[in-house]
Amino acid sequence: MDLTASDFPSDFLWGVATSAYQIEGAVDEGGRSPSIWDTFSHTPGKTHDGETGDIAADHYHRFEEDVALMAEIGVNAYRFSISWSRLIPDGVGAVNSEGVDFYRRLCTDLLEAGITPAVTLYHWDLPQALHDRGGWTNPESVTWFTDYAIVAKEALGDLVELWTTLNEPWCTAFLGYSDGVHAPGLTEPATSMIVAHHLMLAHHSAVAAMRRTNPRSGDRFGIVLNLIPAWPDNGSNEIKQAVAAIDAVQNRLFAAAVLDGKYPGIVRSIHEDLGVADRIDVAALSDAVEPIDFLGVNYYNINHFELDPGAPPLGSWPGVPDVREALPPGHLTEMGWGVEPIGLPWMLSRVSEWAPGLPLIIMENGAAYPDEVDAEGRVVDPLRTAYLEAHIAAMHEAMMEGVNVRGYFVWSLLDNFEWARGYGMRFGIVRVDFDTLERTIKESGRWYQRFLAS
Ligand code: FCB
Repeated sequence: MDLTASDFPSDFLWGVATSAYQIEGAVDEGGRSPSIWDTFSHTPGKTHDGETGDIAADHYHRFEEDVALMAEIGVNAYRFSISWSRLIPDGVGAVNSEGVDFYRRLCTDLLEAGITPAVTLYHWDLPQALHDRGGWTNPESVTWFTDYAIVAKEALGDLVELWTTLNEPWCTAFLGYSDGVHAPGLTEPATSMIVAHHLMLAHHSAVAAMRRTNPRSGDRFGIVLNLIPAWPDNGSNEIKQAVAAIDAVQNRLFAAAVLDGKYPGIVRSIHEDLGVADRIDVAALSDAVEPIDFLGVNYYNINHFELDPGAPPLGSWPGVPDVREALPPGHLTEMGWGVEPIGLPWMLSRVSEWAPGLPLIIMENGAAYPDEVDAEGRVVDPLRTAYLEAHIAAMHEAMMEGVNVRGYFVWSLLDNFEWARGYGMRFGIVRVDFDTLERTIKESGRWYQRFLAS
């Protein structure tokens, strides 16, 4: 790539991203209580080989080393999530001072290393205590989340200015409550739409509350959406229609609810079909709207679809029949995802039509490949480097066309617990040996380091 970091604005955020359950471990230390991911991963058959986040990358005990790795690579920003059940073990009420201490020490270390902390409040790990009270299906979840957001802002607001509420609410709602492949593992499409609605109300309410809590001039609030291009495999009207519905459930539902406080017409018809339209109060959503300062976008791949007449809806896109996923062109990553950087500028320019001028931050982008350690102890991972290089170039292309991108975070700093897929899916630019927990910067990490220094 001919691009260098100097081709980007000087205040551009260049980071790496992680999430609490995927890296922290120490699940029963420091006053933390279980989350739905502890329960789910400990339920036989739910994750690859029964793997859990019990130890994960042991970041809870090794965060100083991890900050040093970030400093060595040369990033100026780090996105991580707070474990809600570490901060507030019952989900509501008493705040756990050991949890506050942990995140304060992490943020202090980051700031000392010149790294801007970017905090995500919810990366899928609802306190089990709240799930036992109905979790996201309970309308009270909006208040629970808002109170948690206030606690987090009070605890860390002097150290953190960049906040996101939810990570990929599509995954929470549909992978968790309709497809069942993520915690809490339910397969109830109608319920999942109610969950999505509560998530959207919770997002707006939390942003409004955090803005009022110890306000600082640099505060910026947003949300992270996984906007995945849904592309038909041919130009027939039937497939185009089906894919428009997939796109509505995957992307427009969340983008429109966040940006405009509305649901697209297609989503409202799906609410009707699933028999939940009356239980989804659209007026409450439009009343709740709180503008965001930036939108976080996660991008990995394009989803391709082909017609499958008579097929029932897929769990991940409730209410959309007659389609199935099609194979992407080219080689696939270990996740089975295609490598199509073209989808990134495509999606970014679409978002900038929905919200002209709104700052966008790529909050996750990266690839899993089956790494090997060579005789010299190096991890030579040219495919991951090529992936990152191509996506950074694609992002730059969108910026040249006027899209307001302000930052880019590689997923992930470390190899980690890839949810139901377990430890086999290595996304890190730093290898973690899960037996010894030793860290080694991969060649892709060295490439990122050189790029950032350029
Ligand atoms: C995203 C998640 C992140 C990680 C990557 C590979 O959907 O936000 O936690 O699992 O995918």
